[in-house]
Amino acid sequence: MTVCEFRAGLEGVPATQSSISFVDGQKGILEYRGIPIQELAAKSTFLETAYLLIWNELPTRDVLADFEHEIQYHRRLKYRIRDMMKCFPESGHPMDALQASAAALGLFYSKRALDDPAYIRAAVVRILAKVPTMVAAFQLIRKGNDPVQPRDDLSYAANFLYMLSEQEPDPFAARIFDVSLMLHAEHTINASTFSAMVTASTLTDPYAVIASAVGTLAGPLHGGASEEVVEMLEEIGSVENVRPFLEDRLERKQRIMGFGHRVYKVKDPRAIILQQLAEQLFEKFGQDKFYDIAVELEQVVEEKLGHRGIFPNVDFYSGLVYRKLGIPTDLFTPVFAISRAAGWLAHWKEQLGENRIFRPTQIYTGLHSAPYVPIDERQ
Ligand code: SDX
Repeated sequence: MTVCEFRAGLEGVPATQSSISFVDGQKGILEYRGIPIQELAAKSTFLETAYLLIWNELPTRDVLADFEHEIQYHRRLKYRIRDMMKCFPESGHPMDALQASAAALGLFYSKRALDDPAYIRAAVVRILAKVPTMVAAFQLIRKGNDPVQPRDDLSYAANFLYMLSEQEPDPFAARIFDVSLMLHAEHTINASTFSAMVTASTLTDPYAVIASAVGTLAGPLHGGASEEVVEMLEEIGSVENVRPFLEDRLERKQRIMGFGHRVYKVKDPRAIILQQLAEQLFEKFGQDKFYDIAVELEQVVEEKLGHRGIFPNVDFYSGLVYRKLGIPTDLFTPVFAISRAAGWLAHWKEQLGENRIFRPTQIYTGLHSAPYVPIDERQ
């Protein structure tokens, strides 16, 4: 077996062969099953995009209607999971609640039939249907309220906003949220997708796969950045303070959340669309005091770090969209998980076809034949 050279963070190391999505980091291109993200954002819906990613085809009207009805049927929260959530500490982070609840789904569907298309479809439908409901349920439970059951007359995106606020969302706001879900659905072999793939490669159940991915997405270097971006904008406080704030951060070698990417060395194409969505929301529902700060920060970061390929990533403007939609800051990453569940499931299903357990090697840097020193003789 030939050993490849060690690459920190596996940078540039192919971990799989996949036809699900394509990214060109120099040109700022993102395609889902070959379709440019801009096309899908303008013309598709999240559930249609999820179907495309998972089953590698744009569904006919009837196939999509059946898929939507199946999701609708499985949306309801299991009362035992609701009761489990009531034992969670209110101060707990919603990503931990989601990871625990996603894993708990496996308790209800323990039979594994990974070679059965019906089992695979059932797992996809249950996870896509229940993740939004579980995110919204914990939000209400930790406020001391009972979760709101989903409504069958609302779309996937509108239902989440409804379950969160107990009010029917404005159709324009629901559409903006649906587009944002599409933008976050898939992004080749990012950390949480890779985590899902490694877990899936042992042929464990899909609920354990999703729980692994949720835990990975939660980190501030990955999906957790959007929450930190808004906190950073709050800390900056004014347009005038952007430059001194940034210079101080850079002086202390601190990362600027929402900027930089392992693959994109230009502005993330998703950030471009999310910025447009934010502007549309502000035009319709009123300005956000942080937007001007964000635009100024983008300009000053480009001045100081643009030459190193550090530009806004997907997390920079997403938080401003979510804020205007009334989504609490610590739910930004769970919302990312709702969307990315489609990508995780697409890679899970694709990998089942020609699975081989992930088991990389290492470059050993330790000792050999070292002595065991009795405890009384140790210094
Ligand atoms: C997502 O992979 C994906 O596709 C992820 C994602 C998806 O859809 O799944 O796109 C979603 O995770 C977006 C990224 C969200 N994270 C953040 O915004 C956190 C801030 N960004 C950085 O931590 C960083 O840019 C990463 C983690 C996103 C990428 O890290 P890399 O590729 O490992 O780059 P690196 O850490 O090796 O940095 C290279 C250099 C370093 O300088 P030197 O040590 O070489 O002098 O660039 C600097 C870094 O210090 N740098 C930054 C920076 N990002 C990189 N400096 C300041 N601020 C930053 N944000």
